[in-house]
Amino acid sequence: MDFKKIETFVFKQYGIDLSAYKSKQLTRRIESFMNRAGATNEDDFILKLKTDPNLSKRFLDHLTINVSEFFRNKDLFMDLEKKIKELLNPDKKILKIWSAACSNGAEPYTLAIIMDRLTPNKRHQIIATDIDKTILEVAIKGVYKPQDVRNVDKEILDKYFTIEGDNYIVKDTIKNRVTFKHHDLILDKYETGFDLIVCRNVVIYFTQEVKNQIYKKFYEAMNPGGLLFVGATESIYNYRELGFEKASTFIYRKPGGV
Ligand SMILES: C[S@@+](CC[C@H](N)C(=O)[O-])C[C@H]1O[C@@H](n2cnc3c(N)ncnc32)[C@H](O)[C@@H]1O
Repeated sequence: MDFKKIETFVFKQYGIDLSAYKSKQLTRRIESFMNRAGATNEDDFILKLKTDPNLSKRFLDHLTINVSEFFRNKDLFMDLEKKIKELLNPDKKILKIWSAACSNGAEPYTLAIIMDRLTPNKRHQIIATDIDKTILEVAIKGVYKPQDVRNVDKEILDKYFTIEGDNYIVKDTIKNRVTFKHHDLILDKYETGFDLIVCRNVVIYFTQEVKNQIYKKFYEAMNPGGLLFVGATESIYNYRELGFEKASTFIYRKPGGV
């Protein structure tokens, strides 16, 4: 496959820099999509993408892999909740939280639920970002299916969701705690002053070099004492080199006072 051709098109069309993604894995994914779309070669595929908005949207979904759910790896979220408690200090200003690559919103809303339980008086701000504008629209709507909430306890479902048939709708009290924004982890600048960054199940698609760049930028974006929560297959082996200390199996801390 002429990967360069696709890479150039994807960057122009969607603003996504594929050179940062692991190429073998990605080539396989693109090839299988091209075959299913019935494209005979790269030029034919690009033409199809340009002329068929529906195909174009599906290709973007395929590239970005939007799978998510509430309390993904529930035990790890329970662990995170304990660590957040340690961050809560009555004298401390508002906690600033970032769900980076938030997909359909299940992750930042999970954080909002945890924060509501820990600090009902809203002493926090949650920013949720993703590269995919379509999935951000889904996130803002906050309507989910049973499989998205399969890890959620009944008591939480009753308190934070309105259930209409097969739809689980996040209540406004939770929705209002999250601000969604478009952001590319590779190309865009990072905000600063975060006490907690949650970035899960996205860096697995990136090359080691890009992963390191992202972790360095997270480090810069965090307050001393701040936490970085990563995915269940995303242990950071070189965390010391990057300046972090280990707070728990999948949680890293920027050294310093809270
Ligand atoms: C598998 S989902 C992970 C969602 C959530 N963090 C979780 O663990 O359930 C990966 C998300 O990363 C987003 N993504 C991919 N590349 C990105 C980039 N360069 N910058 C920001 N988000 C990106 C995708 O759009 C997708 O929504």
